Amino acid sequence: MTQLQAAREPSDEGRGGTPAAQDATAGATRADQPKALYGGSRNRRVTVFDLAAAKERGEKWPMLTAYDAMTASVFDEAGIPVLLVGDSMGNCHLGFDTTVPVTMDHMTMLSAAVVRGTSRALIVGDLTFGSYQEGPVQALRSATRLVKEAGVGAVKLEGGERSLAQTEAIVQAGIPVMSHLGLTPQSVNTLGYRVQGRGDEAAHRLVRDAKAAQDAGAFAVVLELVPAEVAAEVTRSLHIPTVGIGAGPDTDAQVLVWTDMAGMTGGKVPRFTKQYANLRQTLGDAAKAFAGEVVGGAFPAEEHTFH
Ligand code: KIV
Repeated sequence: MTQLQAAREPSDEGRGGTPAAQDATAGATRADQPKALYGGSRNRRVTVFDLAAAKERGEKWPMLTAYDAMTASVFDEAGIPVLLVGDSMGNCHLGFDTTVPVTMDHMTMLSAAVVRGTSRALIVGDLTFGSYQEGPVQALRSATRLVKEAGVGAVKLEGGERSLAQTEAIVQAGIPVMSHLGLTPQSVNTLGYRVQGRGDEAAHRLVRDAKAAQDAGAFAVVLELVPAEVAAEVTRSLHIPTVGIGAGPDTDAQVLVWTDMAGMTGGKVPRFTKQYANLRQTLGDAAKAFAGEVVGGAFPAEEHTFH
């Protein structure tokens, strides 16, 4: 069941056909909210209402990226409540140097795989560079495609005030929107990869952007690479959840790119990530062991052989 379908379950009385994200906060007060965002017993996908309720309870939650069905199924079984099919797939999955070349064809195909591999997590698909900047009509077309063809429950786009009309159009059509502020990697050619929101004026602009996104109907705001104090201020100023990456400990949620989190990324990783495993080493060792046994004749053995 998709997030939007879940939002229209019979138990969700009183909201009828109201666009899901428009009354996310009102939905949070309903008596049938699960008490824990993940690890709970309800056999349905996490919704934007659950995230709003978690903010009210002060419950922090984790988000990971995912780009394929099998990896996504591992994270779904592990209880990660929100999976982002990020355009970081450009760097982490498709072999590009930046997110800029990623297309909506890439995004739609991989988002559909992540949706197929999961049953609990809310799946958020990124709107790729060039798929929404032209204006609200283009943005709505791209968002609608991701919902209809891939089955995602929400979309993410970069920019606060500069993406206001796009956010409003998508939310009014009934598609929940996650906004992305701070370092916005699609603007790497103008921003570079550096901390955003430093200094009073930049910090005020970030707070303004976040409030604009909230007022336009966004259900959550990603804050990437911003000073912890500014992220904390944004988090206090909003009634929707903030999701930090390189934004310190005081956001409502934390997101990591899965290949960084699991130690799969080669080379240098950003200081704000933490490696919880060394998958690159484990996978490399497995490949070497396989190669050694093939060369030495130990594989396949009798138990792997048919007669
Ligand atoms: O594309 C992505 O993975 C992202 C996260 C870093 C938030 O936007």
